[in-house]
Amino acid sequence: MDIPRIFNVTESAHRIHNPITAEKLATLGAALRLEPGARVLDLGSGSGEMLCTWACDHGVIGTGIDMSQLFTEQAKLRAEELGVADRVKFIHGDAAGYVSGEKVSVAACLGATWIGGGVAGTIELLARSLQAGGIILIGEPYWRKLPPTDDVAKGCLADSISEFVTLAELLARFGQLGYDVVEMVLADEDGWDRYEAAKWLTMRRWLEANPDDDFAKDIRAKLTSEPERYATYTREYLGWGVFALMPR
Ligand SMILES: C[S@@+](CC[C@H](N)C(=O)[O-])C[C@H]1O[C@@H](n2cnc3c(N)ncnc32)[C@H](O)[C@@H]1O
Repeated sequence: MDIPRIFNVTESAHRIHNPITAEKLATLGAALRLEPGARVLDLGSGSGEMLCTWACDHGVIGTGIDMSQLFTEQAKLRAEELGVADRVKFIHGDAAGYVSGEKVSVAACLGATWIGGGVAGTIELLARSLQAGGIILIGEPYWRKLPPTDDVAKGCLADSISEFVTLAELLARFGQLGYDVVEMVLADEDGWDRYEAAKWLTMRRWLEANPDDDFAKDIRAKLTSEPERYATYTREYLGWGVFALMPR
């Protein structure tokens, strides 16, 4: 079981697989006023940066589930590096339908809401692991600037304009689902650059190390086209944020 190989190649050097930076993850951890010993569940935990740094900075206890074997291994190494391997556990697996045995203070899914079939389904899934008074974290894109056509939306790697909504509409949607939005930390263009531009050097180095790999043609094509596509579309139109929610 694994995710498509393209991500394991292009994001192999990422610690954070989203446009949020290490600084903003720290801001989010502080904003949530995490207590030592608080339990945190992270569906689609990637390379574990959120859980590992929050265990280090705030003493939380975390469980992360991720479908990428590589990212899960990297998460375990990061936990050891930060000296928090006794406080965080990383499971390689499909997080769809995952409900924790013990209820948690924070239940998160940052940038992987397809795990619950979309935003509403993922909130519903996370709510099943949440203790009373707990917080759900959803990391999700929104339109910072509405694309004028579906072709422009496709340039942002969305299926169509309707795949995402504006920030105000997204916040309203959380309300319609019965949740108060109690905090948010939004990505900016610098954060997008760290997420997207960091893939380019990784691809270049991978190509140099793997010239005869079957995948080399695809990676070459991607490295050639990505900087211009990204600057024309994603960087221009797409926002991303983490939203902290509490049931009303
Ligand atoms: C955009 S990345 C976000 C990773 C992490 N939340 C972060 O911010 O660094 C999406 C993650 O979801 C994982 N993923 C995709 N489908 C999954 C599934 N069905 N179950 C668990 N993880 C999944 C991918 O391996 C990837 O690590």
